[in-house]
Amino acid sequence: MAKQHPRPVHGKVVAITGGARGIGRATAEQLVREGARVAIGDLDAALTEQVAGELGGGAVGLPLDVTNRESFAAFFDGVEERLGPVDVLVNNAGIMPLGDFAEEDDATTQRIIDINVHGVLTGTKLAVRRMRPRRSGHVINVASMVGKISPPGGATYVASKHAVVGLTEAVENENLDFGLDFSIVMPVVVRTELGSGIKETRGVKSVGPEEVAGAIVDAIKLPRRDVYVPREVGYIHRATYPLPQRAQVAIAKAMRSDRVLLDIDHGQRAAYEDRAAHSEPGLEPESVQEAQTAGGEPAEPVEAA
Ligand code: NAI
Repeated sequence: MAKQHPRPVHGKVVAITGGARGIGRATAEQLVREGARVAIGDLDAALTEQVAGELGGGAVGLPLDVTNRESFAAFFDGVEERLGPVDVLVNNAGIMPLGDFAEEDDATTQRIIDINVHGVLTGTKLAVRRMRPRRSGHVINVASMVGKISPPGGATYVASKHAVVGLTEAVENENLDFGLDFSIVMPVVVRTELGSGIKETRGVKSVGPEEVAGAIVDAIKLPRRDVYVPREVGYIHRATYPLPQRAQVAIAKAMRSDRVLLDIDHGQRAAYEDRAAHSEPGLEPESVQEAQTAGGEPAEPVEAA
């Protein structure tokens, strides 16, 4: 097979959702360093603009709520107006509230699906519609290693990431003749606010956001579908996947990877869980809804960006 030559990143227009923090921000930083024209979209308009300024290199920060279709379309329009047609969309925005599924309140379940699944569906659809006529473009969807395996302790999150994997594979298969590229990014635990309070286990070492960013930048240069971070977890997954379920469970127990979403430090996660609960303007946490129903002051409406 002919050796693929790396594509230049310099000058590419890359739009990143959830780009104000964590993996999204680290990816934006690396891309700016390599001369890409980067736009980040995130919920908090002021923070997004501030981070874009810190990134330098002409990076643009625009408000974005991925759960709101109009907001997502306006984000695309804004990026195209400021930087030109989007070459790469990184659907990175996501939340990870953890807990026992049977006890999870319905608003939390809905919020996870709205952001992690509907947000990625909307972004992928809008991107493909704009990229197909140009017969060029790359959609990079940030899933997780739990898009392939199913540890206990975050069932809705796990379901949302399986959905991102299936969506990306199916849409790639629908677009084989359109010259587009699709990638699924599947990191283990990453040391960001979203990953706070999650402990390393024998089987699950964490990585830094810059490592995931590096893998995303590499996938832009040499497009490939499955991007495991670190790369070795992909080899381990492929080796253990064909085993009977009982053997897989035994391996997970031996590596303690079955405990990764269970043995968490709730104190360390509290600030993150609170932020995640406010990640969908218009869908208030149930405690706030209950206060309103009981005659409390209605909360300030949050601008849908
Ligand atoms: P983070 O919490 O540090 O950053 C996520 C960003 O998404 C935040 O800036 C947040 O404001 C933004 N966001 C949330 N809801 C949004 C919405 N409705 N519209 C627009 N932006 C929104 O999280 P992190 O760790 O950087 O995660 C990024 C992605 O990586 C997520 O999809 C996550 O599920 C995935 N991931 C993270 C891992 C980890 O351990 N940190 C492991 C595997 C995957």
